[in-house]
Formats: sequence, structure tokens, C-alpha cells
Amino acid sequence: MSFRQPLLRRFAVLPIALSALSFTACATEYPQTTLQPVTDFGAEINSVFYLAFWLTMAILAIVVVVLGYVLVRYRSRPGATPRKIYGNNLAEILWTAGPAVIVVIILVPTVRTIFNTYKEAPEGALVVEAIGHQWWWEFRYPELGLTTANQLHLPVGRPVEIQLSSKDVLHNFWVPRIGGKRYNYPTVALPEGAPAPKNYKRLSFTIEEPGEYLGQCAEFCGTSHALMRMKVVAQTEAEFQAWAESMKSPANAIPEPGTLEERGYNTFMRGGCIACHSINGTSATFSSVGPNLTGIGSRWSIGAGTAHNTPENLAKWIQNSGSMKPGSQMTPFPQIAGEDLEALVAYLRSLK
Ligand code: CUA
Repeated sequence: MSFRQPLLRRFAVLPIALSALSFTACATEYPQTTLQPVTDFGAEINSVFYLAFWLTMAILAIVVVVLGYVLVRYRSRPGATPRKIYGNNLAEILWTAGPAVIVVIILVPTVRTIFNTYKEAPEGALVVEAIGHQWWWEFRYPELGLTTANQLHLPVGRPVEIQLSSKDVLHNFWVPRIGGKRYNYPTVALPEGAPAPKNYKRLSFTIEEPGEYLGQCAEFCGTSHALMRMKVVAQTEAEFQAWAESMKSPANAIPEPGTLEERGYNTFMRGGCIACHSINGTSATFSSVGPNLTGIGSRWSIGAGTAHNTPENLAKWIQNSGSMKPGSQMTPFPQIAGEDLEALVAYLRSLK
């Protein structure tokens, strides 16, 4: 028996290590959990998960109890010889039919959920086009004539249809608390005369709880894939309408003459920014190469979750975004410096 002692002691560490590991799950916030869904879509997926989870837990419990019983009841005893058994029809039928029944119990709701999550949104749903770019998100609201980036405002309690596509490579739209994930396929060029396809994938859901929900691209799409984040801001219908109004006619788009913001506005209009960026309420509304900057002052981040939205980060971003986000396709502007840079930052931050 003595040779077992060190071995036992070594294994005694295992439960302690495992329980220590389990405490890592005791953090207070889970911004990207799938287990606290806020949409009908997420709740339905979650119900399938819990069905499979509790079924497997029940099976685990039964196996452990039976195993424990067998280990104790049929343990080695001096003089005992086990009875030989050759086949058992009942056992064979049970362990074939049992798993088959369990698979069917899981399969039926799973298949139903798969079809449900691909259904079209009901009449009157808010349509938003979510277009993936390397490496940021463009969100268009055709009904409102609005475009924004990386921060997706949605109303609570109203069905939403997100139409997913991509400007370049495969991306994947994933906001865990809303549900998903789903691919953004690049738009395919079709031969002339071919009927226009519905070349997007769809996600339809209704958000049930106001809040802010983080998401990210879930398909490797190049160097800065990990910096392709987004935030959904779920608002009451009234708040959402107020946001839409502020986007359509932003208050500070053309600043008061003589202010620092006005100098920044002039830098924006003459410095080359307008070749890629639009700001509603100004004459720079023709380009959608880069993110639309209307309301940038109230966004939670710079560069699709790359950095906090602070004046320092914004200045650094304008001068050389590639130093913050590898592969960034925004042209560096080291020539915008000093007071011009300060003014441009002040102008952009005033856009709320
Ligand atoms: Cu887009 Cu990963």
C-alpha cells in the first residue's frame, strides 16, 4: 500500500486546482455572453442550448451514480470470482434506443430553431444594412436615409432586419447577447441582365431590453480582424427617433465663425478628409469610402473598438491610424499637426 501514498497526495491537489479554476468564472460582468440574451432570437437559441445542457447533465449524473454503485458493489474481494456474462439483449436494445431517443429530443427543437432564425422579419420591421469593411462596420438605415459606423442604434420592442453584406472579404456579424453569428458575404458581380439577387444574409430579431451590447467580427478577415468591433445601442422608440433626428440634422455640423471648431471644420473640408468621409449637414456627403463621421463625438470608440474616444487618441489616429490599427486603410495625415490638428479634433468631438 505504501507506494500509493505519494500518488494519492499528488491527486489531492487536483480538486483544489479545479475549484480554483472555477472561481475564474465569478467575474461580475460578461459583456459578450450568449447566456443572457436580450432578443427573441437569442432566447430561442439559448433554449436549445439549455435543453442539450441539462439532458447531458442528467446523463452524466446517471452514469456517475451507476459507475459508483458498480465500483463499490463489485469491488475486488479475496476469493470472489466474477460471473461470466455472454451478451444481453435487453441491455443492447436499451443502449441503442436510449441515445437514439435523446438525439431526437435534441434534434427536433434544434431544426425548428434553425428555420426560425432564418425567417423574414415581419412587416414594418426596421431594415438596417450591415456592411463589413476591412476593418470596420458600416450601418445604413435606408428608411431613414442615414449611415453610421461601428455603433448600431436600434429601437427596443420593434422587429429589426439586419441585412448582411461585405465590401471586400468575408466578415461575420456577431453581437452575442443579440444572437447570431452570421456571415457577411462580399457582393458578387453578376453578368449583365441577370436578375438582381438578394445578395445578403439576414438576421431578424426584436430587442427586448434597452442597453449597450458589444459585438465583433467573428470571421478572420485580415490583419486587424481582432480590431473590428461594434456596439449595439438599444434604445426606446422615442430615444431612437431622437437619435435619428440628431443624425439627420446635426447641431454642430457647421460651427460658429471664429471658434476653434470652425478652424477644425475648415481643416476637415480642405485637408483631404472629405475624399473618404461624410458628415451630414455639411457639403461633405458624397463619399462612403471611410466611416460616416456624423455623430462621431458620441461614439464609444475610435476605429471600431481600437481605442477609447479621447482627444489624444483621435489626434494620434488622424496622424497615423496604422500605428494604432495595423493595416488600417486610412491615409496617414502627418501634415495635419499643431493647432490645425487640435482644431480638427475639437470639431470632430463636437459632433454629437
Ligand atoms: Cu471582419 Cu474579421
